[in-house]
This record gives sequence, structure tokens and C-alpha cells, in this order.
Amino acid sequence: MLWVASLCLLLAPSILGAPTNKQRQKVLLISFDGFRWDYDRDVDTPHLDKMAKDGVKALYVTPPYLTITSPAHFSLLTGRYIENHGVIHNMWFNTTSTEKKPYYQTQFVNEWWDNGTLPIWITAQRQGLKSGSLHFPGTASSYQGEVAMVQEVEPLFYNYKNETAWRENAGKVMDWFSNQDLDFISLYFGEPDGIGHRYGPDSPERKEMVKQVDRTVGYIRHSAEQHGLNDRLNIIITADHGMSAVYRNGLVEEITLSKIPGFSFSDIAFHLVDFGPSGMLLPKPGKLQKVYDALKGSHPHLHVFKKEEMPERLHFAKNDRILPIILWSDPGYVINGYFPVQFHKGEHGFDNQDMDMKPFFRAVGPAFHKNLEVGPFETVDIYALMCHILGIKPEVNDGHLNSTKHMLVSSTTTQGEDVDFLNNIFNGLAAVAGFLVVVFIMVTSHKLLKDKRKNKRSVSSDQLPAKEMIYQTSL
Ligand SMILES: *[C@@H]1O[C@H](CO)[C@@H](O)[C@H](O)[C@H]1NC(C)=O
Ligand SMILES: *[C@@H]1O[C@H](CO)[C@@H](O)[C@H](O)[C@H]1NC(C)=O
Ligand SMILES: *[C@@H]1O[C@H](CO)[C@@H](O)[C@H](O)[C@H]1NC(C)=O
Ligand SMILES: *[C@@H]1O[C@H](CO)[C@@H](O)[C@H](O)[C@H]1NC(C)=O
Ligand SMILES: [Zn+2]
Repeated sequence: MLWVASLCLLLAPSILGAPTNKQRQKVLLISFDGFRWDYDRDVDTPHLDKMAKDGVKALYVTPPYLTITSPAHFSLLTGRYIENHGVIHNMWFNTTSTEKKPYYQTQFVNEWWDNGTLPIWITAQRQGLKSGSLHFPGTASSYQGEVAMVQEVEPLFYNYKNETAWRENAGKVMDWFSNQDLDFISLYFGEPDGIGHRYGPDSPERKEMVKQVDRTVGYIRHSAEQHGLNDRLNIIITADHGMSAVYRNGLVEEITLSKIPGFSFSDIAFHLVDFGPSGMLLPKPGKLQKVYDALKGSHPHLHVFKKEEMPERLHFAKNDRILPIILWSDPGYVINGYFPVQFHKGEHGFDNQDMDMKPFFRAVGPAFHKNLEVGPFETVDIYALMCHILGIKPEVNDGHLNSTKHMLVSSTTTQGEDVDFLNNIFNGLAAVAGFLVVVFIMVTSHKLLKDKRKNKRSVSSDQLPAKEMIYQTSL
């Protein structure tokens, strides 16, 4: 009887492995940088509309503060507020040497990104899944020595607007899903952020770019179908922040720090201003109160906070990298240092309560309800949602599954921790079934042998040899 037991052990995994793999759903997270929640309201967007009909659309989502690209994207990948993941700015800086690195170069500063929080790529891979990333901010860095197993980092001076390249990238991602069997991929497009900065969110150029995004969404969904991925792939489309028009041409009193009475850059050891509506200052020793008093209340649209006084809701204080004085301006205004040097018609980086900063959210796939419109939630909640669909245990994070789980069809709740439980039941049942089959075979073949001895001609053709029956049960 020993061989019966070992046969059961051999059979069980081969029966089990397959269904688990088949059931595991995939996730594609797409970010269209700076796609504001209401960009589809003044443009015809048939593909985004179709996606909403086939899946879920949120009225809008709330990004983390600071509403800028690298920090907000890293919150999507980690589910953590910016003060908790540490990527507090698009620019790496050193307050001692006063060195700063621009956005693109900062992508390659490992210590800036790898500050104690793991992006979903790594967490998924540690739990046996396969991850990929194409151009998503944070892709170039490694995390505790690990990277997404398939990745493409954005080249320097990349043309963000090239629709042909967008399609090529979408094609690559579908290929990674179908030919390399990846489970999770993050995919990034640099528009409509670029066009929103340059021409403003109300411009005809922005509307044209939204049409290009819409065509691309149609292309991506078509491509997923062509690759036979529709029954396993969930597509989530969102963005890092929105966009707000900047008042120009002497329409408003500009905020220029050097012109504020009592304020002097000679009291400042290091600063990050001239990057839109937000700024941070490190006063020289003993100068903090002087700088603060000069700036506070100096302009009706300038907000000045000591780090420890920052409103709790912004979650942008409790990190050593955040400088002692934080500034931000109201929509329409930007913060200039010595004199105006920025002439964008659109900006982001404002308070995340401002409706202009809210991104869009769409999701479609086997995990999601169809034709469902939901209320707003935070973009930090997307991480827990993705982990749930992938059936992986999330790291510590600031999001809540309860704010998104109403978007999911109930069967998806068998993913995640429940999967193990179901697998165990399935394992048990399969082992028992395997055992019964073997017993049946033994009894039958024993009987067969007996019958044979009695009368060789009595063996009918539908009494299969034992070996064939084993093959059938293991398929
Ligand atoms: C920052 O600059 C100082 C002075 O140049 C240097 O000693 C320090 O190592 C730098 N820190 C980092 C993290 O690069
Ligand atoms: C995060 O970065 C800061 C310096 O900016 C460093 O002091 C700290 O040790 C880092 N933490 C981790 C966990 O990497
Ligand atoms: C757009 O991308 C395609 C494919 O990568 C490339 O062949 C073409 O030269 C690009 N065009 C522009 C204007 O950058
Ligand atoms: C979700 O759960 C968290 C913590 O358990 C709670 O603080 C929050 O209010 C809940 N949110 C919703 C929408 O139920
Ligand atoms: Zn951005």
C-alpha cells in the first residue's frame, strides 16, 4: 500500500498547481501623467466611455500631498503617504552641499527611492509573482537590491507625445503579460502633463491630447483582447495629480519671496522654490522664527507653515527630508524666489483638496463590476486593491481596502489570504479523490486479474488499463 500513498502525493500537486495558476488574475496599472478627473467632460472620449461601461469609473481620486510626479507615483506603488515613503520631491537634494538633481537624474539616485518602503513590484516578486515596469517613475532604482524582473527605463530627452511610441510600449507590455506570464506591470505615459503645463488645462492642445489618450486606451484594450488576456487581466488607469491654470499677464499680484519685506535669502541656507506652487526653506541657524514671521501673512494667497504645524490631513511633515518651513500657494499662483522664472500656463503641486489636483480613475477586468460609477477615494488606496486582486500580502501601508472593495465582484474576495485557505481545502479534496481513484484502480485491476484468470474473453473494451486512468485523472 506504500506506493498508493506516494502516488497520491505525486498526483495531488499536479492536480492542484494548474487551477491556482489559472485563477490568478493579472493587473496592469497605467498612469497618464496629469490627467485631471474632469478632462473627459469637454472632449469626446468613446474609449474611456466604453471602459467605464465595461468596468468602474470613480468620480475622481485624491492624490497625496505634495501633488507632484515622483512622490505621487511612489504612493501609487506603495500605498504610503509621501511623508512615510520618503520620496518627498521630484528632485534629490543635499542641504549641506546645496546640490540638487533634476527630475530625470533623480530617477537614478538609489538612496532617494530606496528609503525603507517597498514598491509593489518587489513585494509581488517576493511572493512568487512576476513584475514588470515600463517608464513608471521609480523603475530605474533598486529596492533592497531588487528590481522589477522586466523593465524599461525612460530614455533621456524622451518625446512624451509620440503616439506611435505609445502603441509600441502598450504592445511590449501585452507581450510581457502573454509571453513572459508577468502578473503585474506598471506603465507610464508623460502626457497630458506636458501639454497641460505648456498650454494650460483649458487649451485646445490639451483637448487634442485627451483624444490621443482616449485612442491609446482603446488600443490597449484591443491589444489585451488580441493577446487573449481579457479573462485574467485587470486594467487600472489613473494619474499622479491634476492641473490648474496659472494667472498671468499682470492679472494678479505675483508671489515673489525676495520682494517680501523682512525676508532675505541671506537668512536661508537652502531652498527649493521656483518649481510651481510649492516650496521648502531651510533657514540658517537661529533664523527660523525671523523667516517665518516675515513670510506668514505676507501675501493673501501664500500659505506658510513650520513643519511641525503642517495640517495633519496633508501627511507631509513627519520625514527628516522635509525642510523646516513649507510654503504653498493657492490655485492660480506660483511661488517665485528672486524674480519670476517660470512661465507655465498650467501647474500642479497645490493642496490636494483643490479639485483641480484630482486625477481620474478607471478600472476594467474580471475583478471589477461592470457599468459602476463610484464616489471618490484616495490614490493611496489603489495599492491595497492591487495586492488584493493579485492575491499577495501587502506591506504596511496607508490605504484601506474598504474604500475600494465595493468595486469588486464578490468572487475576487477568494483571492488574497483566502486563496491559501481554499487551496488547502482543494488540496485535501484532491488527495482524497486521488486516493479513491487509486483504490478503485487497485480493486478493479485485482478483480480484472481474477476475471482474466477465470475467463480471458470476458474483458470488455471499456475497462481501461490502470495506467490510462491515472493519466486521465492527472490532466
Ligand atoms: C551632502 O554633502 C556633504 C557636503 O558636501 C557631504 O559631506 C555629504 O556626504 C553629502 N550627503 C549625501 C547624502 O550625499
Ligand atoms: C532614508 O533617508 C535618510 C536620509 O535622507 C536616511 O537618514 C535614512 O537612514 C534613510 N532610511 C532608510 C530606511 O533607508
Ligand atoms: C515616434 O516613435 C516611433 C516609434 O518608436 C519612431 O519610429 C518615430 O521616429 C518617432 N517620431 C518622433 C517624431 O519622435
Ligand atoms: C476603512 O477602515 C479604516 C480602518 O479600519 C477606517 O478608519 C475607515 O473609516 C474605513 N473606511 C470606510 C470607507 O469604511
Ligand atoms: Zn506628474
